[in-house]
Amino acid sequence: MTTSSLPGSLVLAGAGKMGGAMLRGWLALGMEGSDITAIDPFLSEEMKQIGQTQGVRLAETAEGIAAPDVLILAIKPQMLESAAVAFAPLIGPGTLVLSIMAGKTIADIAARLPALAVVRCMPNTPAAVGRGITGAVASAGVSPAQKQTATALLTAIGQVAWLDDEALIDAVTAVSGSGPAYVFYLVEAMARAGEAIGLPPDLAMQLARSTVEGSGELMFQEPRISASQLRINVTSPGGTTAAALDVLMAADGLEPLMKKAIGAAKRRAGELSG
Ligand SMILES: NC(=O)c1ccc[n+]([C@@H]2O[C@H](COP(=O)([O-])OP(=O)(O)OC[C@H]3O[C@@H](n4cnc5c(N)ncnc54)[C@H](OP(=O)(O)O)[C@@H]3O)[C@@H](O)[C@H]2O)c1
Repeated sequence: MTTSSLPGSLVLAGAGKMGGAMLRGWLALGMEGSDITAIDPFLSEEMKQIGQTQGVRLAETAEGIAAPDVLILAIKPQMLESAAVAFAPLIGPGTLVLSIMAGKTIADIAARLPALAVVRCMPNTPAAVGRGITGAVASAGVSPAQKQTATALLTAIGQVAWLDDEALIDAVTAVSGSGPAYVFYLVEAMARAGEAIGLPPDLAMQLARSTVEGSGELMFQEPRISASQLRINVTSPGGTTAAALDVLMAADGLEPLMKKAIGAAKRRAGELSG
């Protein structure tokens, strides 16, 4: 994706954890700070510094701000209702609204804002280090050029996967949106299992954490090798890894448990957006 797809003007509504990560990504991609306005009633010290050093315009409210090419909604979902009136003047005839609000559908957004072009996204927390993955779906009013712009903006925080069907957003939420927590929990579980076989707690945690960090990095650096193949590559028949995998890959092992967990997350995503 080239930087030529980046918008000429962008308003970020909500410069919190995820909005802030996106803002840092856009600046790193080469967007001019002066093309960006960040609106947030309580701007963090970091945001204030970015405003000063990179020329990003900072505002506490939407008042007096012209309609941009792209309006990013990175506020908490429960704030949409009360913020919609203030944000409505930010939407011009060509404005693309890109929402990362969990559980807010394209129809929810279109019912509250005069927006024809809406992209609904589900990013995840590794976005903070530019290694997130975002599932995205576009409304019928989004032009091919706007879709390219959305891709360029989302690429600033990692990979982008476009969905044809908005209903899949709940499944994306269950796998990648909530997924980082499963991986962090895997580290906790591995560390506790290490303790149970005699390792000091600190060492068990260091071993577990570093193993997950390194394995993730290995997958990242070897995108053409499947996860299955990477697993096979480190599993000698009859060896120690195989002994553990016999347990994890049993009929009542990790896979049915993961299906149950991810199914629960998907159901909850549906309830929250219902
Ligand atoms: N973090 C994640 O991993 C993640 C993943 C997927 C999706 N999301 C979605 O991303 C959105 C933001 O999440 P977050 O974790 O970045 O939350 P956050 O850190 O709380 O950021 C939201 C920011 O928006 C500000 N805000 C509230 N009302 C506003 C208004 N009317 N105008 C402008 N700014 C306003 C908040 O200010 P106050 O603090 O003063 O309220 C806060 O700074 C949520 O909708 C969430 O569902 C987050």
